[in-house]
Amino acid sequence: MPANIVIGTQWGDEGKGKVIDILASRAQVVVRSQGGNNAGHTVVSGGETYKLHLVPSGILYPDTQCLIGAGVVLDPKDFIGELDAMESRGISTADLKIDPRAHVVMPWHLTLDGLSEKFRGNNDIGTTKRGIGPAYMDKYERCGIRICDLVDPAVFPEKARATGSLKNAIITKVYGGEAHDLDAVIAEYTAYGERLRPYVADVSVLTQEAYKAGKTILFEGAQATLLDIDFGTYPFVTSSHPLSGGVCVGTGIGPRMIDSIIGVAKAYTTRVGKGPFPTELNDEIGETIRNKGGEFGTTTGRPRRTGWFDAVIVRHSVRVNGLDGLAINKLDTLCGIGDLKVCVGYRKADGTVLKDFPPSLEKLAECAPVYETFPGFTEDITGCRKFEELPEACRNYIEALERLCECKVCMVGVGPDRDQMIER
Ligand code: GDP
Ligand code: IMO
Ligand code: MG
Repeated sequence: MPANIVIGTQWGDEGKGKVIDILASRAQVVVRSQGGNNAGHTVVSGGETYKLHLVPSGILYPDTQCLIGAGVVLDPKDFIGELDAMESRGISTADLKIDPRAHVVMPWHLTLDGLSEKFRGNNDIGTTKRGIGPAYMDKYERCGIRICDLVDPAVFPEKARATGSLKNAIITKVYGGEAHDLDAVIAEYTAYGERLRPYVADVSVLTQEAYKAGKTILFEGAQATLLDIDFGTYPFVTSSHPLSGGVCVGTGIGPRMIDSIIGVAKAYTTRVGKGPFPTELNDEIGETIRNKGGEFGTTTGRPRRTGWFDAVIVRHSVRVNGLDGLAINKLDTLCGIGDLKVCVGYRKADGTVLKDFPPSLEKLAECAPVYETFPGFTEDITGCRKFEELPEACRNYIEALERLCECKVCMVGVGPDRDQMIER
C-alpha cells in the first residue's frame, strides 16, 4: 500500500485520527494537506489519549515522518503549543516538516472569524473561531502570509505590516473592532518564525522522494466531505477541500500516485456547528448517543449534534471521493439503544424520493428522510477483533451499510483504542 488517502465522509469527527494511527504503524510517511487547527484528531494508545490539531496522527511512531503540506493554514502560536505538548509527553517532533508554501493564520484572522460570525447573527456558521475562513480568504485574495515569509526576517515585517494595515482597517471601520498593534504582532510572530525555521522543507519534494524510495505514504484528511467548500452543505462548510481530490493540490503530487482511498464514517452521524442535518435526533436517543459516544468537540468542546446513519450523504462521499473502502467507527456506541435506523433517501413534498444529496439547502429543507430499520444489539462488542465474532445484528447492520452506500466496509471500530478495530 504505497500511497493511501484517509478522509472523512460525514461532517467530521468520524475517527480519522484513530484510523490514521492504526495504518501509520505500517507507513513511513503521514501527510496533512488541508485545513488547520480547526481539526481535532484523537488517538488513544495504551490508555493515553492524544488530541492532535495540526500535528499529523502518525506522530506516535518514532520512525514515521509527519509532513504538513502547502494546502494547510497554520497557526504558529497554536502549533508551537502542540509541539511543546507532544515533546513534554516524550514524543519527538524533530522530524516533522512544514511546506514553505503553507499559509500562516495571523491574529487578525482569529479576530475577523469572531467578528464576522457575530455580524451574521442567527445565520452564523458556528465556526471553530480558529481564523480558518479568513486565512483562506487572504490566500485567495493573494494577500496572505506564507511560512516562507514568516521564517524570513528580511520579508516578514513588511508583508505583515501591509496586510495587517488592511485587516486593521476592516476590523475597525467595518466591524467597529479593535486594531492589532502591528509592531507587537511582528515581534511576536518573528519569534515564532525563528522557532519554526528548522521545520520548513518542501513537502511536495519530500513526498515524491519517499514515493520513489518505495515508502508507504498516508494522506490524512481533516474535516470531511459534507464540510467541503464545493460538495458540502454550503455555506455551512469549512473553507478548504477535504475531499480526496484536495490531497493532490494540497500536497503537490499527481493523482496517479494514489493507490487507495478510504472514507471514515461513524455508525451513526454527528455534526458540530450549524447547518442542515436531515437525520438529526433531538430526542432521548440522540442524547443517549451523545453521552455514550462522548460526542463533544475535540477542538471546541461543543456538544455534537447526533442522528441516525445517513446513507445518502455517505453514498455522495463514495462518489465525490472515489472511495475504495469505508471504515465504520463507533459501532459499540449503538449497543443497547434498540432498533437502528438508516436513511436511504429524502422524500420531497411531491412524494418523490431523492437518492442523491441535493445542492440546494432550501430544497433539502423541504425533504423528509426515508428510513430502513434494522434490529439493534445489546451484546458488548468492544472485545471483538474479527468480523465473525460480532453478533448477527451487527454483521447485518454493517452489510446493510455496505449495500446502501455502495462501498465495501474494510474496517469496523468497536472502541477508541488503536487495538479496538476489526479489519476485513
Ligand atoms: P477525527 O476528527 O475524525 O479524528 O475524530 P475525533 O477524534 O474528533 O472524534 C472521534 C472520537 O471517537 C474520539 O474521541 C475517538 O477516540 C473516538 N473513537 C474513534 N473510534 C471509535 C470507536 O470505534 N468506538 C468508540 N467508542 N470511540 C471511538
Ligand atoms: P475534524 O478534522 C467537525 C466545522 C465547524 C463549522 C464549520 C466551519 O476534527 O473532523 P471552520 O472553523 O472550519 O471555519 O468551521 O466546519 N468543522 C469541523 N467539524 N470536525 C472538524 O474537523 C471540523 N473542522 C471544522 O464546526 O461547522
Ligand atoms: Mg475531530
